Amino acid sequence: MVAPTREIAPGIHWIAEPGPDRSHFIEDQYDRHPAWYDPADSLHVPQHAYLLDDEESLLFDTLSPACKPDIVETLTERLDDGLDYLVVSHPDVPHAGNAMAILEAFPDATLVAPAYGNAHALYHLDDAVHVAAGDTINLGALEVEFVEASFPDAPIHIWMRELTTETLFPVDWLGYPHRGVETMAFPAEFDTELTVDRLVQFHGRVLFWFQYVDVDAVTAEIDRLIQDFEPVIVAPGHGNPIREGATDVMARAKEVVAAVQRDGRVGTLG
Ligand SMILES: [Fe+2]
Ligand SMILES: [Fe+2]
Repeated sequence: MVAPTREIAPGIHWIAEPGPDRSHFIEDQYDRHPAWYDPADSLHVPQHAYLLDDEESLLFDTLSPACKPDIVETLTERLDDGLDYLVVSHPDVPHAGNAMAILEAFPDATLVAPAYGNAHALYHLDDAVHVAAGDTINLGALEVEFVEASFPDAPIHIWMRELTTETLFPVDWLGYPHRGVETMAFPAEFDTELTVDRLVQFHGRVLFWFQYVDVDAVTAEIDRLIQDFEPVIVAPGHGNPIREGATDVMARAKEVVAAVQRDGRVGTLG
């Protein structure tokens, strides 16, 4: 089965793995349902990969092993000339878990991994080309630049941006759950705003260490990201891509840090 895909900008394809129903996140926690939640619908925290398909092609992240045949079939169907680059943001299973299967299907692809850290044996990242912030790969009209992960989830971690479309790919930052009816929809197509409490449902579970950080320092770093990159599109690893008001959502994430700090860890991702 191919994975659901949608173009978010010319040549940039969002590939999604919605994952299981996680309605219990809300049912277990709230007495009253938030406006963005529908008890009659399912709730998902997705995994995303992004395919940049130009003169050369680049896949950013791999989806989880539950989607192994799907991601390989999706790429095989889409790529006439094979895959040129496979970039892994960090060695977490939902991001890197299909690296070997993809390299087996596309043996000419160059594996690209973060230059940071030294525990690369997992997923064979020690064999990869290592990239650091500022390094670029030109794909034709599209060109990616690697960006330091401001809020890393692993010692080995890199973010990416695409320069011509001004798209930022911040894995795992800016994840959030979506309802079944919102699958493959952009937030501008949702019935409700992308609110702080919805963003907290992800950050309070995955980036739960926000409860220990210096809120002012994180706030300043978010301001720096907005100022330095001014992305038109934000394409997160666990949230539907934001194509309108992307910097507004980034700014809203400052309140997320304060909320996690105030209320503590929301729960796990189970
Ligand atoms: Fe992660
Ligand atoms: Fe993740």
